[in-house]
Amino acid sequence: ATGDHVPVLIVGSGYGGSVAALRLTQAGIPTVIVEMGQSWTTPGSDGKIFCSMLNPDQRSYWFRTETDQPVGYFLGFPANKSIPSFAGALDSEQFATTRVYQGRGVGGGSLVNGGMAVTPKQSYFEEILPSVDAAEMYGTYFPRANAQLGVNSIDPAWFESCDCYQYARVSRKTANDAGFGTVFVPNVYDFGYMEQEDANQVPRSALASEVIYGNNHGKKSLDKTYLAAAAATGRLSISPLHTVTDVAPASGGGYTVGMTQIDTAGNVVATKTVTADRVVFAAGSVGTSKLLVSLKAKGRLPDLPDAVGTAWGNNGNVMVARAGLDLTGSVQSGMPTMGIDNWADPNGPVFAEIAPFPAGTETWINLYLAITKNPNRGTFVFDSSTGKVGLNWDASWTQPSIDAAKRVFDAINSKAGTVYRSDLFGVNKIWGDDFVYHPLGGCVLNQATDNYGRLPGHPGLYVMDGSLIPGSTGVNPFVTITALAERNIEKILATDFA
Ligand code: FDA
Repeated sequence: ATGDHVPVLIVGSGYGGSVAALRLTQAGIPTVIVEMGQSWTTPGSDGKIFCSMLNPDQRSYWFRTETDQPVGYFLGFPANKSIPSFAGALDSEQFATTRVYQGRGVGGGSLVNGGMAVTPKQSYFEEILPSVDAAEMYGTYFPRANAQLGVNSIDPAWFESCDCYQYARVSRKTANDAGFGTVFVPNVYDFGYMEQEDANQVPRSALASEVIYGNNHGKKSLDKTYLAAAAATGRLSISPLHTVTDVAPASGGGYTVGMTQIDTAGNVVATKTVTADRVVFAAGSVGTSKLLVSLKAKGRLPDLPDAVGTAWGNNGNVMVARAGLDLTGSVQSGMPTMGIDNWADPNGPVFAEIAPFPAGTETWINLYLAITKNPNRGTFVFDSSTGKVGLNWDASWTQPSIDAAKRVFDAINSKAGTVYRSDLFGVNKIWGDDFVYHPLGGCVLNQATDNYGRLPGHPGLYVMDGSLIPGSTGVNPFVTITALAERNIEKILATDFA
């Protein structure tokens, strides 16, 4: 409530925010999370909390009147449909030249994502974050993150025999035939549960086309792991449907934090101001960058460094599909578990997730999310005429990603005698290059913050999320975000709270 005073306020409940919440509350510090999305605990009229990809309703998108699916076309026709505007789980946030998908709700991206839990190659980690002790990360913080996230691996024998990964086996074969290696990828989806789904022993989630709008079963999202453990300390309180809009130094020390509370229809029901001794920005790469850039520009946090808002990247994301010749299966697990690993190629590193196309019917489509090493970086810029923060990212800047992915998929097509699908990402458009699942950077470690996420110039302000990572991790990013947050919060607790 307005006038409250809290020791620590965390903005956002994704990976960075959840790690901070657990470690702070375990250390005895009462902590408040302010989260703009809703708390996904109440079932809808169908008895389910989340809707499936096949039948999106108001729960799917964050305040849109039409769905905006990543694969937005089929046979060249728009595949989107009208929905009521609602505080749904997936935000497709539009910038001038790209759109960024993000989770909205208590648990952030963990609610909607594919659960792929990948530790980056150590040599690449050392390249992107040279100021971080990599031996410590790989010895302590990556294992800690993987354990608390509940990461598990598929039983290889079951993988070889089950219908729901036929699509992955088909893509593995065509990749291997063309000389590319493939690797199993761990996940936070409980593969034991998935096997029971397959055996019709439990309600289906991954096998019922549930992904990107949330999973009703099986997935260890943050509300079931880090946040549940933090809540169990009795020291965590969460305010959902509250958006932080302002942070500024308070006259008596600490910070005043302004926020707006909405209902699920988007109506403003209250505006509040509280005071916090410390504020942790964990609103995600885009959320944290937008907030800090606007607070600096408006003079609310005037001493933030100029590096705030810079060094943003899309983790080299580009999607592509092939028209396959082999059956991929009508029931596909929505949780990917295999990748094509061509990262060692100096002429264009690619780590391509073999993605499902869970249409509920045979499509012969082989779909991929390629993660590439794209050197281009965008900048968040405050527009004083609109009061909004834009993302300066040139549409042509995804070309290095396409070039790298082409080297892999041209070779696979040539060997398999197949072609690209050009009807899924637009009309006559092969590359899904105008959207992002892995926004990273904007408030980079040891550039915009110190080497542990402290914001210089404003003691007691911290950054704790994907914005710390300079645009690329070479793999799906949430394990890196989690492990880095574990490292930083441990140091901050030991020094700043001592
Ligand atoms: P994250 O975005 O998780 O959390 C930020 C939170 O802050 C959100 O809950 C947001 O609502 C809230 N917020 C923002 N602004 C706010 C404000 N002003 N006030 C209050 N709250 C605010 N990664 C991976 O490793 N494996 C995978 O399989 C996938 N798959 C995948 C699929 C899809 C569809 C998406 C959209 C994303 C993925 N990802 C992924 C990416 C992964 O989910 C992402 O990198 C992390 O969620 C980022 O974690 P953060 O902690 O940085 O922010």
